[in-house]
Amino acid sequence: MKSLTINRMIVLLSRPEGMPTEQNFEIREAPFAEPGENQVVVRSIYLSVDPYMRGRMNDSKSYTEPYRLGEPIVGGVVGEIVKSKSDQYVVGDKVIGMLGWQLYNVVDAALLRKVDEKIAPLSAYLSVLGLTGLTAYFGLLDIGQPKEGETVVVSGAAGAVGMIVGQIAKIKGARVVGIAGSDEKTQFLENELGFDETINYKTVGNLSQALEQACPDGVDIYFDNVGGTISDEVMNLLNTHARIAVCGAISSYNSTDGDYGPRVQRKLIKTRSLMKGFIYFDYADRSNEGIQALGKWLTEGKLKYEETIMEGFDQVPQAFLQLFEGKNLGKMLVKVNGI
Ligand SMILES: NC(=O)c1ccc[n+]([C@@H]2O[C@H](COP(=O)([O-])OP(=O)(O)OC[C@H]3O[C@@H](n4cnc5c(N)ncnc54)[C@H](OP(=O)(O)O)[C@@H]3O)[C@@H](O)[C@H]2O)c1
Repeated sequence: MKSLTINRMIVLLSRPEGMPTEQNFEIREAPFAEPGENQVVVRSIYLSVDPYMRGRMNDSKSYTEPYRLGEPIVGGVVGEIVKSKSDQYVVGDKVIGMLGWQLYNVVDAALLRKVDEKIAPLSAYLSVLGLTGLTAYFGLLDIGQPKEGETVVVSGAAGAVGMIVGQIAKIKGARVVGIAGSDEKTQFLENELGFDETINYKTVGNLSQALEQACPDGVDIYFDNVGGTISDEVMNLLNTHARIAVCGAISSYNSTDGDYGPRVQRKLIKTRSLMKGFIYFDYADRSNEGIQALGKWLTEGKLKYEETIMEGFDQVPQAFLQLFEGKNLGKMLVKVNGI
């Protein structure tokens, strides 16, 4: 192996106000330390960019610490061990971990998990078999609890979480209505993934009317990835004992003037509905169950997944920004090194 001396990293240079820009990030070069006892060096192969990272760029209280200015952004990374001072790993092992946006990470071996490319392509460990697949699995099945014949509406339906939610709902015998931001996406959902109805929220005009037409029997489960006015409209169609899994609110992540909207209390009371926010790691101790179920459906051909993979380390900030423009179909990843 070539000697490793200079590393490249992407740091948070300034906290975004509203929509982030490339100027909020900086690519830096720095020498890196040799691994210590029980540490390894991981060469990054795929970096995950995720909407939740936007929240960590603010200096505010949340379920995780804010990113620190001048330090690499941290997120899901799949890579290869290139140096090991740990009994657990040998050079060449493929691993996943929450690592820095860096070409190489020096990290405690205990913070990594082995992945096997004979079982699934490496990228899948950051998508359908990773955080987004598990979020879909547990959010829908634990909070939504879909039953045969029920109507499930999912927003952000052509994204990494949304397209898995819709397909699991179909596996459970539900009728699935997906809301997404382009005709290419809605057609993909209907033609490739078997969604029953779709709505392009950007061109539909009257969303309320379109939802009523798409959900003639009302809404039993709403899997909410976006919040905002889309969710306000879906909440008007709740059936008695509806379940709302509040997964994300991307429509307001870049908002600078608060997140206002109609009040939901009376709708929840009238329909005796359950509305519950959740974070994927609430289910961390059940990840194996989720991975096994998702893997089984993949093998049986009941579940498909899609990834939008950009190439090159310098593209990472751009890939992140494109999430907010809806440029991705399925999971957005960046391939930063060859396998
Ligand atoms: N609770 C958890 O543990 C957890 C875990 C993972 C993700 N999440 C959340 O789940 C949601 C989906 O995450 P993901 O990783 O699957 O991302 P994703 O859906 O693959 O990508 C983001 C998508 O959001 C849509 N979008 C962007 N701006 C929007 C806006 N203003 N209004 C409506 N839609 C907008 C875009 O699709 P369109 O073209 O359709 O607009 C874009 O492709 C996010 O809100 C994320 O924060 C939560």
